[in-house]
Amino acid sequence: MNREIIVLPDHECVSRKAASLFEDVTVSSLKGKGKCSVALSGGSTPKRLFSILASEYRDSVAWSDIDLFWVDERCVPPDHVESNFRIVSEAVLSRVAVPEGRVHRIRGEAEPHGEALRYEREIMEWFHMGGLPCFDLIILGMGADGHTASLFPGSDSLLEGDRLVLPVYEEKVKQWRISLTLPVINNGRSVVFLVSGKEKAPVLHDVLEGREETSRYPAGLIHPSQGKLIWIVDEPAASKLRKSGVTHFIGAAKGYNRLFH
Ligand code: 6PG
Repeated sequence: MNREIIVLPDHECVSRKAASLFEDVTVSSLKGKGKCSVALSGGSTPKRLFSILASEYRDSVAWSDIDLFWVDERCVPPDHVESNFRIVSEAVLSRVAVPEGRVHRIRGEAEPHGEALRYEREIMEWFHMGGLPCFDLIILGMGADGHTASLFPGSDSLLEGDRLVLPVYEEKVKQWRISLTLPVINNGRSVVFLVSGKEKAPVLHDVLEGREETSRYPAGLIHPSQGKLIWIVDEPAASKLRKSGVTHFIGAAKGYNRLFH
């Protein structure tokens, strides 16, 4: 498995590394095939990434040529405080020019089952194909329970082998969600996890260094079949990792500025 684990001092470093990676992947996709598909997650962790992209990467990223999709959405209206679309809209779309036709929003306000089918069709139409789409970049987060996207531990949605997009009812939060499925995420070209905070250290250890317990966690089921898996985590989240699995450990002492640009 083509996996990289990068440990950085703090959330700011994680966000800056992710922004640099975003630029690298989008530039090479556009250069290589003239198009680029990016799927974004919600939650709190990627917010800093989005604001760095919209400020420091305004000119170096070809925003008018990138197609933005969502990994998952909460079934709420786009202006709702819990909307994953709203996070990106406020942090990025309000500050950089992404043409409306390249913003592929999940309509959280719609009926979940119908919307999951509609979004599946939109993805297949954009990729002009029947099989599994291959997103150039997929940004993921991980909950302290090991969930990722809106794929939760013990959920039947983890067993899905055909659908690209599913409606998921999450009992814990009493909320419908719409999520890309495991086969789609595992078909990504660059699949990138951003993980920050010590509350995620126990599950991150189990997911990255666990044995049988790994598959209990949806995040532990992310193994791109052909693509690259990159974990960008901060030291508090990595505090239970034995360094053996870590490919790059850039402690605070080293100073990370040299790493980016
Ligand atoms: C969502 C996300 C979800 C998120 C994790 C981590 O819609 O909430 O897509 O999978 O990445 O819950 O959330 P935090 O970044 O807030 O810890």
